[in-house]
Amino acid sequence: MNLMIREQLTNTLLIVLLFILAGCQSQKWHYKIGVSQCSADIWREKQNSELRMGAYLNGHVELCFAAAYDSDERQVQQIDSLVATGIDLLIVAPNQIQTISPAIDRAYDKGIPVIVFERKTSSQKYTAFISADNYEMGNVLGEYIASQLHGKGRVMEVMGLKGSSPAIERHKGFANVMKKYPNIEVVATLQGDWTEESAVKAVHDYQGDLSNIDYVFGQNDRMALGTRRAMMERIGMSSPQGGIGRGLPHFCGIDGLPGEDGGIRLVRDSILDASYIYPTRGDKIIQLAIDILEGKPYEKETMMMSALVTRDNARVLLMENEEIMRQSDYLDQLHSRADDYMQQLDTQRTITWLACGFIVLLLLAIVLFYLYYLSKVRLQHERVVNTLWNMKPEDVPAPSIAEQAENPETSIFITRFKEVVESRLADSDISVEDLAADMNISRVQLYRKVKTVTGSSPVEMLRTARLQRAYQLLLTTENTVSEVAYQVGFTAPSYFTKCFKDEYGQLPGDIRK
Ligand code: FRU
Repeated sequence: MNLMIREQLTNTLLIVLLFILAGCQSQKWHYKIGVSQCSADIWREKQNSELRMGAYLNGHVELCFAAAYDSDERQVQQIDSLVATGIDLLIVAPNQIQTISPAIDRAYDKGIPVIVFERKTSSQKYTAFISADNYEMGNVLGEYIASQLHGKGRVMEVMGLKGSSPAIERHKGFANVMKKYPNIEVVATLQGDWTEESAVKAVHDYQGDLSNIDYVFGQNDRMALGTRRAMMERIGMSSPQGGIGRGLPHFCGIDGLPGEDGGIRLVRDSILDASYIYPTRGDKIIQLAIDILEGKPYEKETMMMSALVTRDNARVLLMENEEIMRQSDYLDQLHSRADDYMQQLDTQRTITWLACGFIVLLLLAIVLFYLYYLSKVRLQHERVVNTLWNMKPEDVPAPSIAEQAENPETSIFITRFKEVVESRLADSDISVEDLAADMNISRVQLYRKVKTVTGSSPVEMLRTARLQRAYQLLLTTENTVSEVAYQVGFTAPSYFTKCFKDEYGQLPGDIRK
């Protein structure tokens, strides 16, 4: 296969492959977002699944989760590792205000946008902050308790993790209300760490009298529940009826989750008196992240709306939530259907591209084979013409008797035509009519016969003969290239040079050298 065809083949193959690859390739770009959670509990689980759903709906967001299980050191390490994996944005709930700030600052200083959510950092190095108002929650629950007690009674507070911003703010909000009611005594402020067990331990460690406490404000529902459990254990109650004067106080908490173990159900079932919804809103956080990443306008500080849950609204809230869950189950099903459909589409697209690629390759192979075949036929023709032309009459193999009988005139005709051409080579004015006249046949007859026998036209035969004669002259005489050109019937030496180059791939001057 000659060089040109090979080159054509390689180029076309490359184009076809690129075409197929481009077709098979799916969308590749996406955002990688790191989520550093300070703890792992039902509130965080709900939020994480909302984050996942938000990412899913955005289509091109990959989330990398890390949970520090309430450990500062672990969270610092996890943030550094997330940054090292090349995240585009960090979402972080810092375990405590001070301790996590250096790691957050490091991420921010590397140019990674940071969304701090729900718990605060001591540094200003963050892109956006999103939370509900923790001071307000403490405040509202304080007012609720004060109104239930008609401004008179004994309360206890169980605080969340020391040094975490919601614990500090909820406490402030609560304490500020209590100051307004001189007849309400805050008997104790216990220290928990947001877990149920921490409240159980705090109650057991508490040395004071628990029997005359009217209300407990747990800074979250889990701690309110833990306090209740420990009080029942300490007071020795097996039937947790609760209520003022019946041994067990009333309990309030924060989080107000809708699920099986959530605060709303606890309120409905009279285990808690009230809770306050602490919104998880992972969907909102993801939207904020996308807005930041896409350079859209966004709020630097977002305060989310929230509400008090009491026995009056707990049932309705649960019903509404069940409805939402039903809808979201339905949406989940739709998503998984859509996923299946997209997968099928992907497979079909790949098959189509492969089929197209195969057809293109097949067509290409056919075209190349055809070109190859043509070039071979042409080569054979050239060889035949050259051989015929170079033969002396005596070289022409004597036709077999059978061949002679079949076409006895062919070799005589060619020999005769060759003699005519040789004799008129130098005549630059010679035409096909002249050659035909010399052969005593018409121009059309001459063309047909020469073409049939040799595959070339009389003019091509004449030019080949001229060039071969020129080649001999250049080898055997001292004549200049121009003289040789005129001697073999060319009127312009430059045209002669061009034809010579086309035929032999060399310039006439090179032969001489
Ligand atoms: C969840 C949680 C909630 C609490 C919040 C305070 O991890 O402990 O129960 O309201 O964090 O940041």
